[in-house]
Amino acid sequence: MTGIYLLCLQLWLVFEQFQAVQATQARILIYSRTLGFRHDSIPVAINALKTKQDSINVAFTSTEDPSQFTDSILSSYDALVFLSTTGEVLDSDGVASFQKYLNLGGNFLAIHSASDTLRNTTCYTKELGAVFDYHPALQNFTVDVVGPSHPSTSMLPAQWNVQDEAYNFESNPRALGAIVVLSANESSYVDTGVRRFDQGTPHPTAWYQERGAGVQQGGAAGRSFYSSLGHLNETWQDELFMSHILGGISWVLQSNTTRAFNSSALVGNQANNINITATSTATSKQPTKSTESQASSSLGIATSPSKLTVVVGTLVVAALSQFFIKLLT
Ligand SMILES: *[C@@H]1O[C@H](CO)[C@@H](O)[C@H](O)[C@H]1NC(C)=O
Ligand SMILES: *[C@@H]1O[C@H](CO)[C@@H](O)[C@H](O)[C@H]1NC(C)=O
Ligand SMILES: *[C@@H]1O[C@H](CO)[C@@H](O)[C@H](O)[C@H]1NC(C)=O
Ligand SMILES: *[C@@H]1O[C@H](CO)[C@@H](O)[C@H](O)[C@H]1NC(C)=O
Ligand SMILES: *[C@@H]1O[C@H](CO)[C@@H](O)[C@H](O)[C@H]1NC(C)=O
Ligand SMILES: *[C@@H]1O[C@H](CO)[C@@H](O)[C@H](O)[C@H]1NC(C)=O
Ligand SMILES: *[C@@H]1O[C@H](CO)[C@@H](O)[C@H](O)[C@H]1NC(C)=O
Repeated sequence: MTGIYLLCLQLWLVFEQFQAVQATQARILIYSRTLGFRHDSIPVAINALKTKQDSINVAFTSTEDPSQFTDSILSSYDALVFLSTTGEVLDSDGVASFQKYLNLGGNFLAIHSASDTLRNTTCYTKELGAVFDYHPALQNFTVDVVGPSHPSTSMLPAQWNVQDEAYNFESNPRALGAIVVLSANESSYVDTGVRRFDQGTPHPTAWYQERGAGVQQGGAAGRSFYSSLGHLNETWQDELFMSHILGGISWVLQSNTTRAFNSSALVGNQANNINITATSTATSKQPTKSTESQASSSLGIATSPSKLTVVVGTLVVAALSQFFIKLLT
């Protein structure tokens, strides 16, 4: 009997350690449905993001299924990523759940042709910042780092050479409060298209919104980030590009409006809503929401509490249990 009690105690301790380890992990939904042009880089992009997920303490789930856009499913994510989506990828119920998610503090990221998505859906286009107009041919050009220092650009050279599509937009994202952090150098490439819209200068290529403008009055705005780069497979295999995107992801999560960094938030990884302070008694110095882990993740550095700690802890508990079982039986 004592053995069984000790086994239960051991399992409980291990369970609680896993809870603590999960405490600051964010869950992010990648949505890549396409009803217009389909980029063949989508699977490469998803794979690249999932490969890097531990480095920013995120668990990605990817889907192309619009029925995932319900209130209850979205509420378990700390951010949504629209990855090279095109066309009318949500119906009106899906849009309503998306709007509700934004109102509850949900964070949003959009990449590449996500700006050619839901073009007439106001909450989506405001949360995004500006709708795609056209792009000149794929070619090499220079992207300038502009604006304040930001986790999505801090590692980039001031003039960054890319091979991509230099998107033009139908409006100036700054009009919605966006801060532009990357700007295509228009002298470095050829664009023979006709500009019918004022997208502002310098040319907007990536930007962020501290308060995503898709939120409705009275809602708790999360953060929004958009990068128009990301066309080619090769781009998603480029470490600099990946650090640009991962920096954007880390930054949106620090809105502190989701459970990744706010245990009383209304959306985000449910595992982070467990009141660890109230339940932990027997263990241990597992990292929970330490200021250290928040500070380091603001720099885009890996913050996963050591899995080694869990393994070692488990082994120690197991060894102690065996010892006591031997003593008592
Ligand atoms: C990009 O990668 C995908 C998936 O591996 C592949 O099917 C596609 O052919 C690649 N595209 C190019 C242009 O190489
Ligand atoms: C968006 O609205 C414009 C103007 O009403 C219309 O011409 C266009 O077809 C609409 N696009 C979509 C994808 O619904
Ligand atoms: C274009 O950029 C790619 C990727 O950065 C690079 O590999 C290639 O050499 C460049 N091509 C030219 C013509 O500069
Ligand atoms: C923009 O590109 C042109 C042509 O490549 C180059 O001469 C110029 O220095 C670049 N300017 C900036 C600010 O990057
Ligand atoms: C979120 O919390 C971190 C850590 O306390 C802080 O540095 C950051 O400024 C907060 N973000 C917002 C938007 O308040
Ligand atoms: C944390 O979430 C609660 C509930 O939504 C909200 O009232 C509070 O402002 C959030 N904290 C921050 C720093 O955003
Ligand atoms: C966690 O539990 C403590 C102690 O019972 C309580 O004071 C605190 O408000 C709780 N926090 C949340 C987010 O429920």
